[in-house]
Amino acid sequence: MTATEELLQIERVTKVFTVGSFFFKTRINAVENVSFGIKPAEIFTLAGESGCGKSTIAKIILGFEEKTAGEIVFENESIAHWREKRQLFIQKVQAVFQNPFESFNPLCAVDDIFFETVYNFHLVQNEKEAIPFIDERLKAVGLSFSEIHSRYPSELSGGQLQRASIARALLTNPSLLVADEPVSMVDASLRMSIVNLFARLREEMNLSVLYITHDLATAYYVSDRIAVMFRGNIVEMGPVEEVLLNPRHPYTQLLRDSIPEANPHRKWKGSVRVANVEEEEYLQKGCKFAGRCSLAEERCRVDFPQETLVDGVLVRCHRYN
Ligand SMILES: Nc1ncnc2c1ncn2[C@@H]1O[C@H](COP(=O)(O)OP(=O)(O)OP(=O)(O)O)[C@@H](O)[C@H]1O
Ligand SMILES: [Mg+2]
Repeated sequence: MTATEELLQIERVTKVFTVGSFFFKTRINAVENVSFGIKPAEIFTLAGESGCGKSTIAKIILGFEEKTAGEIVFENESIAHWREKRQLFIQKVQAVFQNPFESFNPLCAVDDIFFETVYNFHLVQNEKEAIPFIDERLKAVGLSFSEIHSRYPSELSGGQLQRASIARALLTNPSLLVADEPVSMVDASLRMSIVNLFARLREEMNLSVLYITHDLATAYYVSDRIAVMFRGNIVEMGPVEEVLLNPRHPYTQLLRDSIPEANPHRKWKGSVRVANVEEEEYLQKGCKFAGRCSLAEERCRVDFPQETLVDGVLVRCHRYN
């Protein structure tokens, strides 16, 4: 394997799930031949509507789900090799999830998990060293040790707890943070402070972030590059300004136009119809978006579009072939 400048490389990764029950079982490619890379100190967004395969990719990277095919390379080493060095991998690749209340045991004080992590990873020798170490990471997210000390998850707000879960993820000095919908349960005012935190940690700690979100506004604000997924496939990928200000794929256009505007007198410009035909779209032969695309032609329903590079942006749409 040749050395690359990517920290994480996903190469043609596929995940097949069997869905349905009894006689109605079908296999869907929840993730289909997906490839992308994340560079050191890069914030990379994975966006797309519910059920498009974002979390499945996160789970495969984190080792919670087995891939059906493809390869994942982290720091120039196959993920298969990292399995033998699981403790070191966890130290380097940390995760933050949607619901911070699920990340903490409700029966344990919040600082317990911090102490547990620093001792498990041998980051400090004793409690005297542990407290300033934990306090430093908490300060990086705008909290302090005294604010979490002896307090239970239910005694903190969702925003405080989400910041605490990011601080906990930072204890091991990771090089990659996999953040799956980290802001969807916090209010709009706090969303910005959390994504700002990612930007600061990237500057200060060289951290790379895989930022999974529905929220294109924060994605636009914080990320360097974005990949838009639809039914298991990346349909558009490139620099965030290019993709969101000048979307090429009809699905990215639809997503972008469905961002609600702050002005209450202006209505939403469009809406993403959440498919009740998710499975059908997954099984669609040609372009999986064809059934919803106003520009679809006959070939879109028949042939699966290849990806094309248009002005530095990868687009999977027949209009650009
Ligand atoms: N363990 C599983 N068994 C069967 N199907 C699954 C499993 N996990 C996910 N899927 C299916 O795979 C597809 C992708 O799911 P995934 O959770 O990756 O989507 P997502 O993009 O993260 O959605 P959301 O935005 O709602 O979190 C969906 O159709 C989902 O129902
Ligand atoms: Mg998800």
